[in-house]
Amino acid sequence: MKVDTFLVERFMDAYENNVELNLAETCVDPFTLGEFLSLTGREAFFEELKGVQLTYGSIEGSLDLRRGLANLYETLTPENILVAGGAIGANFLVFYTLVEPQDTVISIFPAYQQLYSVAKSLGANVKLLSLSEDDKWLPDVDRLAGLIDDRTRLIVINNPHNPTGSLIDAGLLKKICAIAEEAGAYVLCDESYRGLYINQNDSAPSAADLSENAIATGSFSKAFSLTGLRLGWIAGSQQIIEECRRHRDYTTISNGLIDDALAALAMKHVDRIYARNLKIIRANHQILSRFIEDEPLISWVPSRAGSTAFLRYNLELSSEELCVRLIKEKGTFLVPGSCFEMEGYLRIGYGCKTEILEKGLSRFKDFLNAHRQLGVCDG
Ligand SMILES: Cc1ncc(COP(=O)(O)O)c(C=O)c1O
Repeated sequence: MKVDTFLVERFMDAYENNVELNLAETCVDPFTLGEFLSLTGREAFFEELKGVQLTYGSIEGSLDLRRGLANLYETLTPENILVAGGAIGANFLVFYTLVEPQDTVISIFPAYQQLYSVAKSLGANVKLLSLSEDDKWLPDVDRLAGLIDDRTRLIVINNPHNPTGSLIDAGLLKKICAIAEEAGAYVLCDESYRGLYINQNDSAPSAADLSENAIATGSFSKAFSLTGLRLGWIAGSQQIIEECRRHRDYTTISNGLIDDALAALAMKHVDRIYARNLKIIRANHQILSRFIEDEPLISWVPSRAGSTAFLRYNLELSSEELCVRLIKEKGTFLVPGSCFEMEGYLRIGYGCKTEILEKGLSRFKDFLNAHRQLGVCDG
């Protein structure tokens, strides 16, 4: 089966482990194991696990874990949850379960590339719903309705949105679900960044709480800072979960039971984890906002949620050349817009430690100043 190269994963993989100041990462500062166990008050966790036999464990994820995950939703029970290998595994399983050749799949664009490339590789006719700065990077429902045809199987959205940090509110989310219901289609809402709101009055419901036709995917990597567990999940109607489970038998059997136990522990301390992480992203967002206010070569639609923002730059350099030079000259890592097939933009991740963000932005400033002095910018 042919599949397009996953541009952002290739670029990240090429540089992320050797760079000094990583402002490209999307996870909120991942925990060390020690920090996580002390936050949850379970320092003896591994000692207690010594008697556990290393079997396959529960196939769809332990009841304890699925119960904890169901509590993140208004209307769901553990039977509505299926644990997967990261949100990436969860999304893949939804595509693998639902999409057949010649189906129409509508996906927002720009987006995490998996959200449109997997459906394409499965033989679907993928239609892109372009987001624009003028619409604050939010989907336009009239344009969405215009893309629906009688083979539409799936509408794919991502809320909060990577890379722009836009947030679809309850009203818009309901309209998108209504369009899917009328078309007899499903909505896949990738909610990997759910819970990370910059403004404390903001929040958004899960699509899975709004419609039987909506399937939400979630991640332990971003808002929960447990990236190394490589766990995510699917939330949806029991019928969809059962179909996904049938397909999952061929890809997963089960996830690791130690990972499952750590994830279940995290679910008992969701409030503490959110409190830690909201503090990080809100402080960092302020620093980033100040940087952009003071920097005429950079502009943005301020991100409202998640841990990433999409910055427009005014320099006569391709985004890839800019990012590679920034790495080589300043040891600072951003993602080029070209990884999202959007020239003229850069993605920044601001979930990192505050001192890394501050240092990285200061080096980025030096880089921009050097280019300003050379007169190679057109602004
Ligand atoms: C929108 C989106 N979905 C899924 C993923 C994959 O996340 P996970 O680490 O849970 O597999 C990412 C990672 O960057 C992402 O940004």
